[in-house]
Formats: sequence, structure tokens, C-alpha cells
Amino acid sequence: MDSSSRNFEIDETVSLDDAAKEIVIIDQTKLPGTRRMLRLSLPEEFYNAIKRLEVRGAPAIGVFAAFAAYLCACRIKETDHDKFYSAFSKDRDYLNSSRPTAVNLSWALNRMDRVVKDNAGKPVSEILDAMRAEALLIRQQDEDACRAIGENALTLLKPGYGLLTHCNAGQLATSKYGTATAAMYLGHERGYDFHIFCDETRPLLQGARLTAYELAAAGMDVTLQCDNMAGALMASGKIDAVLVGCDRVAANGDTANKIGTSVVATLAKHYGIPFYVCGPMSTIDPSIKSGADIPIEQRDGDEVTTMWYEKRMAPEGIKVFNPAFDVTDHSLITAIITETGIYYPPFSFGQR
Ligand code: MRU
Repeated sequence: MDSSSRNFEIDETVSLDDAAKEIVIIDQTKLPGTRRMLRLSLPEEFYNAIKRLEVRGAPAIGVFAAFAAYLCACRIKETDHDKFYSAFSKDRDYLNSSRPTAVNLSWALNRMDRVVKDNAGKPVSEILDAMRAEALLIRQQDEDACRAIGENALTLLKPGYGLLTHCNAGQLATSKYGTATAAMYLGHERGYDFHIFCDETRPLLQGARLTAYELAAAGMDVTLQCDNMAGALMASGKIDAVLVGCDRVAANGDTANKIGTSVVATLAKHYGIPFYVCGPMSTIDPSIKSGADIPIEQRDGDEVTTMWYEKRMAPEGIKVFNPAFDVTDHSLITAIITETGIYYPPFSFGQR
């Protein structure tokens, strides 16, 4: 599909072409300059799309993984349930190893696993039908959750507010509306005239490339700044609230999100600005007691030294510290906004 000439629009961040047995995504590593659609059908392609961030953002990774699990299962030739399940389990574990931090990946794969187990004894064709239905349901529930998060978050915001966000917790990271951006979209529709500020989000620039792009394309008032300008911005009095997404929230409210989020939260506390974490219940991991136990992805040093520069800009051989996420301590979080409500400290998320 060549859609490079089309205006920016995302009907579905992740979609299934069931007839072709392909997942269709927009390659987020190429945005905003190039609108390149990818059609993926093989387990290695699914794994690489997550690993390389062609599809990214916790909820979108979950939706993508659900479709990927279904398409992997469609390729299994076994008709005996035990053999079918054993082949499916290998694909599930392989997909699950693509990125460690966003819990939505394992959450979605566990839901797909449950469908396979619950339908033991049925013909494979029926198991596949049930898996496809579950994957579509996961996507629909994500869209519904994002909208509800937006409605909940909007109750905390006033027209004319200056809002700061970090990374991309937008439409590109979910099925629709985004999480941190959902109230921005809804407020925009309702004439709230928000002034939105996006951190560029080094090293992979999700804020500059994706959030600034999608919000500006939706007609919002968006200003981009480098990550190290957030303190000056807050000191200027232009920010009334910070809204960010999340990749995994521990039972005590400690929250893993894109690297730099904890810096923004610390600054917000200093300047007395409310700091809101927005995410679906699928991003809450009650099995993890605190942020200390959240696995943090470490990525290639080239992302810091070389990527985005015409020539390498750091000395050859320099050691690089490049965690993809950090943990914001629960004490810095004003509220966690989900589809089921707004949670205030002390946070305590029990087993689902
Ligand atoms: O490495 P990424 O781009 O997948 O990181 C994304 C984030 O940190 C988002 O803020 C988070 O996944 C929430 S998306 C609604």
C-alpha cells in the first residue's frame, strides 16, 4: 500500500488482514518523514517489528502480540491438541522475549494462551476462530479503555491549561486516542484550547517524531522542546499538569515509562505541578511489588552515539548507558488514571 501522498491519519495503529494472514502496521521508525506500511506474516517479522520499535508503545505492543500469536497459530500444522499447544507455546515464548518492560506484551500473550487451553478438545479451526476473536476483542477493549482514560483525565484539567507530555503515549502507541493524549484529543474536540508541550525524548525521539507529529496533525497547539528544557519550561509557569503513559505499574504504584519520565516527575514535584500517569489496567502488574523488580530494557549504544546524526558524534569505543525506561517512584505521582477510575496515593493494586 503506497500511502505516502495521503494526509496523516491512523485508522488503526495495528490491523489484521485475515485473508492474507498478515498484520499491517505503519513503520514508526520512519515517521514523520516517510509513511511506510509494513505487512508482516512470519514469527521473525513479528519479533523484529517489536524489537526494532516499528510497532511500539505498551498497549499497541499488546494488541500486535495478540494478532501475532493468532497468525503464528495459523501456521501450525499439528491437529493433536497437545502437539498444537506445544508448538504454540514456543511461538508465544519467542514473541514474549522481544522486549522486557511493557507488561502488555505478556498480558496479551497470556490471554491468547488461555484461549488455546480453554478450547482443548475442539478442532484446530475452532481454536483459531476463538483466537482471532480474542485478538480483536483485545484491540477493541484497548480503544474503549483509552477513551475512558481520556474522560477520566479530562475531569482533572481546565480549559486553557498548559500540558507537558514525555515520549509518545498517543494514538500511535495504542488502538486509538492514546493514554496520556486521550484527554488532549477529547479536550480538543470540546474546545478546551490546551497548550501542549512535548519533550523530544532522547535517544529515539518519540516525542519529536511521533507525539509532536500526531497532535499537530490533529490541529492542536503543540510546542516541542529538548528534554533538558523541561525545568525552564516549568519555571516559566506555562505547565499546569504533566500527563505521561506507562509500560508497567507495580502494585505500589512505582511506574516504568520511557527513560526521562522520572526526571520530569521530580521536576514536577519541585514546581508543585500535578504529575499524572495514564494507562489501561492491562499495564498494571500486581505481581510486581515495587519498581525495583521491573525488568528494564537496555538498548544498543548506537542509538545514543550515531543514530540521527549524519556522522557518529561520540568518540569511537566510548561506553554508553542506554536504558529504554526508568522507574518513577510512587511518591512523585499525583494520580494514576485508568479506564476504571482515578487512583490516588497510597497506591495498592491487588491481584487481577
Ligand atoms: O520504547 P517505546 O517507544 O515503546 O516506549 C513507549 C513509552 O514509554 C510509552 O510512554 C508507554 O509505552 C505508554 S504508550 C500508551
